[in-house]
Amino acid sequence: KKFQVVVVGSCMIDFTSYCPRLPKEGETIHGSKFTTTTGGKGANQCVAAAKLGATIALVARVGDDVWGKHYIDNLHKVNVNTKYVEITPGFSSGIAQINVAESGANQIVIIAGSNDKLSPEDVERAEDIISEADVVISQLETPPEVAIKAMKLCKGISILNGAPALAKYDAELLTLPSIFCVNESEAEVFAGVPVNSIDDAKKAINVLREQKGCQTVVLTMGSQGTVYSSKDTSTLIHVSSTPVKSVDSTGAGDAFIGALAYLLATKKEKLTFHECVEAANYIAADTVTRPGTQSSFSGPEILEEYYKTKEFE
Ligand code: RIB
Ligand code: NA
Repeated sequence: KKFQVVVVGSCMIDFTSYCPRLPKEGETIHGSKFTTTTGGKGANQCVAAAKLGATIALVARVGDDVWGKHYIDNLHKVNVNTKYVEITPGFSSGIAQINVAESGANQIVIIAGSNDKLSPEDVERAEDIISEADVVISQLETPPEVAIKAMKLCKGISILNGAPALAKYDAELLTLPSIFCVNESEAEVFAGVPVNSIDDAKKAINVLREQKGCQTVVLTMGSQGTVYSSKDTSTLIHVSSTPVKSVDSTGAGDAFIGALAYLLATKKEKLTFHECVEAANYIAADTVTRPGTQSSFSGPEILEEYYKTKEFE
């Protein structure tokens, strides 16, 4: 069976504390709410694309614990194929400890657990579906060799989300992906320049393209929008974000990537690359207005909403 999108990456259980602000070092503060939900950048991106309507499969490793089984059940509920999601004997599921402030800002610590055991051999076993997919996505919550293998087997568009950022890596990690997608803090690590403004983002993208050999680079900047430079035009383009009231920005980057993958896989007749980035931006901004990650991702109606914004232009 052919899938439009295949995601090779992580599954984490998110333990999220909602608090008035992020605590300082050494500080204890009262929070207001605690939730336990399914997260991890790989699965989040997968669920984002699945909810929009992509036919999709995930290649991943969950732990040999209650969370592993729970995770797989959850993926089935949103129509993700889990033939290549393995339970890993003797390892616990990956977990993320997340604090979300009232401003919508967050901080995250992840313990990779079984995600660390995902191997290039696991990816090879999924070669059939990876080589036939229109778009293949990977991230860096699983070993970088896994992402490299996936991108090598991909014959369509490969997207690498450079998250979390790595200080040391094999050069081909950045030259292989058709699209390298990072946020401000990740761009700082990979490009070695501070990224606060749109101008900084443009400088970082130039470094990534000219010195690191990246093809298309997409840099997401939260409320400041997205800056990209595609390998075909090489001009730097800024797409601004729709202003929204931020409640929880956790997973917004994942919603962006899942949406971008879905759009690139299914809408090439209808949307230009620029419009795909613009629509993905719109879809990501919408998720920030609701708490949580996967539960805050919308169905195909959000794309109809985006089309409507275009009619009035
Ligand atoms: O990008 C958000 C995700 O990062 C969370 O779901 C958490 O699991 C961490 O991996
Ligand atoms: Na959200």
